Amino acid sequence: MVQVAVMGYGVVGSGVVEVMSEHRDSINKRTKEEMGIKYILDIRDFPDSPFQDKFTKNFEDILNDDEVKVVAEVMGGVHPAYEFTKQCLEKGKSVVTSNKELVATKGAELLKIAKQNNANYLFEASVGGGIPIIRPLSQCLAANEVIEIAGILNGTTNFILTKMIREKMSFADALAMAQQLGYAERNPAADVEGHDAGRKISILASLAYGKHVYPEYVHTQGITEITLEDVAYAASWGGVIKLIGQVKRLEDQTLDITVEPMFVEKNSQLANVDDVFNGIMVRGDSTGDVVFYGKGAGKLPTASAVVADIMDCAKHLKRRKYLEWADGDGSIVKPYAETTYPVYIRVACEDKQAAFQKAQELFANVSALVRANAGGNELAFVTDEMTVARQEKAVQALEEAGYQVLSKIRISDL
Ligand code: HSE
Repeated sequence: MVQVAVMGYGVVGSGVVEVMSEHRDSINKRTKEEMGIKYILDIRDFPDSPFQDKFTKNFEDILNDDEVKVVAEVMGGVHPAYEFTKQCLEKGKSVVTSNKELVATKGAELLKIAKQNNANYLFEASVGGGIPIIRPLSQCLAANEVIEIAGILNGTTNFILTKMIREKMSFADALAMAQQLGYAERNPAADVEGHDAGRKISILASLAYGKHVYPEYVHTQGITEITLEDVAYAASWGGVIKLIGQVKRLEDQTLDITVEPMFVEKNSQLANVDDVFNGIMVRGDSTGDVVFYGKGAGKLPTASAVVADIMDCAKHLKRRKYLEWADGDGSIVKPYAETTYPVYIRVACEDKQAAFQKAQELFANVSALVRANAGGNELAFVTDEMTVARQEKAVQALEEAGYQVLSKIRISDL
């Protein structure tokens, strides 16, 4: 009998318990083990739950019970998830998690502790919800040098942008709807300000390049400043705005890693990933582009990935899975100001022609964009590729010349 403990009975935790109970027979058959949930840890009471006998508020019950071999940490947040995970691993219990914040900030350390204690720390659910991406990247694509990973990694923001693009819905209404549907983080700022996607690209980069790329090394920008005007200009340019997490290995072997809204051409595969769906493109030197697509958030898709990790741990008790990376100090990351790309800029102006001339003078070569009902008091244009440092200097000069910069969005090469 392999006894499991579930720490956290929120959206994902209740999904884990549901999937394990409903699929009990097939799970037992596939793992060739009798699997059971012995504890559910939560500080709240759930008087109507059919799993009454399993609830505990005391972490020590789990830690000190040698029958518990696998622990699912689905609490979210760094504390106390970090302390609980560390203690479980030190006791030789394997831990699985959907907690991208914890993996992104403490992954190298926890993987090391797991190794020292001959246990596993698995986190398939931490990126892409129900989409398999961690295992494919660490196992199936292991013969490749990863040239680039780019993806729509946050379901909530993709849902919001899709509603803005298709239905011209306001940002606030779309966010409220995403929250109601259970997609958003406890604090939706983590979604809309890009931190959730930042944690996910940080995990993928660490896995692909073998060194921990902490979220603070990732240039991170969310979608809170995207307007319906920008959406219209993106359409006239021939694409859509998507929140993209991207890491590319540059010729000098540094990483260009970022999370930011980008213009994506409409024939790109990622442009057609809509609603709560996530899409992740991995470019390998041998495989070329491999794209993963599916539901990146929500109770059951995420629970499915957590339960698969629980099963994997049960099948590999006291055997290590090959999942690890070394600690990193950020020296592998290219400073954001030195990265290069073309950019879309929208400015307020009184004389469109004069504004265009000024833009040409400052950015060298620009192409104006049009949108319906724009009126004469704004100018939108796209530049050629240039460093962020040069873009910022030109933006400052535009402002000094009296043109208020309303928007500035990266043009992707996807
Ligand atoms: N809030 C996250 C999202 C949940 O919307 O993608 C899944 O990580």
